[in-house]
Amino acid sequence: MPKKHTTHAYHRYGSPDLMTELTVCESLGSADSPYMVALENPKPYGAMMGDFLIQNKVLRPGSRIMETGGGYGTLMKGLLNAHSGLIAGVCMTDLSMYMLNRQREALKEWGSLVSFVNAEILSIVSAVKDIDLIILNEVIGDLDVLVDMETNNLTDEAAQIINKYNLESPSFGKFNFNIGAVRLIEAISKNNIPAFISEHSSDPLIPERMYFLEDGLDPDSFPREIRLHGHSEYTIRFSHIVKTAEALGRRVRTGALIDLVGIKDSPKMKFIFTNRACSTDRQEIIYEFLDHIREYRWMIIE
Ligand SMILES: C[S@@+](CC[C@H](N)C(=O)[O-])C[C@H]1O[C@@H](n2cnc3c(N)ncnc32)[C@H](O)[C@@H]1O
Repeated sequence: MPKKHTTHAYHRYGSPDLMTELTVCESLGSADSPYMVALENPKPYGAMMGDFLIQNKVLRPGSRIMETGGGYGTLMKGLLNAHSGLIAGVCMTDLSMYMLNRQREALKEWGSLVSFVNAEILSIVSAVKDIDLIILNEVIGDLDVLVDMETNNLTDEAAQIINKYNLESPSFGKFNFNIGAVRLIEAISKNNIPAFISEHSSDPLIPERMYFLEDGLDPDSFPREIRLHGHSEYTIRFSHIVKTAEALGRRVRTGALIDLVGIKDSPKMKFIFTNRACSTDRQEIIYEFLDHIREYRWMIIE
């Protein structure tokens, strides 16, 4: 039988350190971050996210946003600093009281514009109302995963979902299945709320202009474990969540986070990555950042 991997207790009762997780949001959290050297137009991640959501017409004047798993509140702080005039209300929901307190502190200048709810996302999402956009940035890799499931001996629950949404599985052997992420996308899609999702993927998309970043990557693999301090996360098979939302009648757009944040397209980037050039601090930072962000994808469900 496969094991069900869960990070519930870790997030509910712990005080995780996002700096050890190197989330893209924290790496690009402020304009003076050292990682900004890799960007064409350096801006805090939340401000870039706001621009992107406006361009994609999911953030509009009067929008009410729910961000789930907002960590230290850095994305929302950047978004409100840049675009608060557009936003009619924000609801921050998180499983972790520790994180929710960090968010309360980070967002206090916006007073009653922002509310805070301590909840597990899968238990509340079907009941969410009066929200125009849900943001889940680097959260769905924390949801439950069926680990080491035999492709010819699926659990009943996995078989039911895989058949219903026609999800791919390997032709033989074992694989890890993002059951929590697929269930969440199913619930968001049924509730008909637009959503922005980003996460570390097992089927990355590398923009053509940066083809050299494909080196050593399998663009069609299944979720793998990422060991972090005190817990593990799993990469997300994006084709599974895209198919689930589309099967439920939702329009989906997806792409590489490299494009969303606007990585500089220069011969220097190629040189540093292909030669693993790390002889200066600047080169080391760029190499580390490119190697990390190249597997990330975003997805918008409408
Ligand atoms: C990896 S951190 C990402 C934080 C932030 N979004 C970022 O990008 O830096 C995951 C966040 O999701 C929250 N979280 C994890 N599992 C959750 C769940 N099942 N329901 C709600 N929040 C959850 C954690 O407490 C934390 O705030």
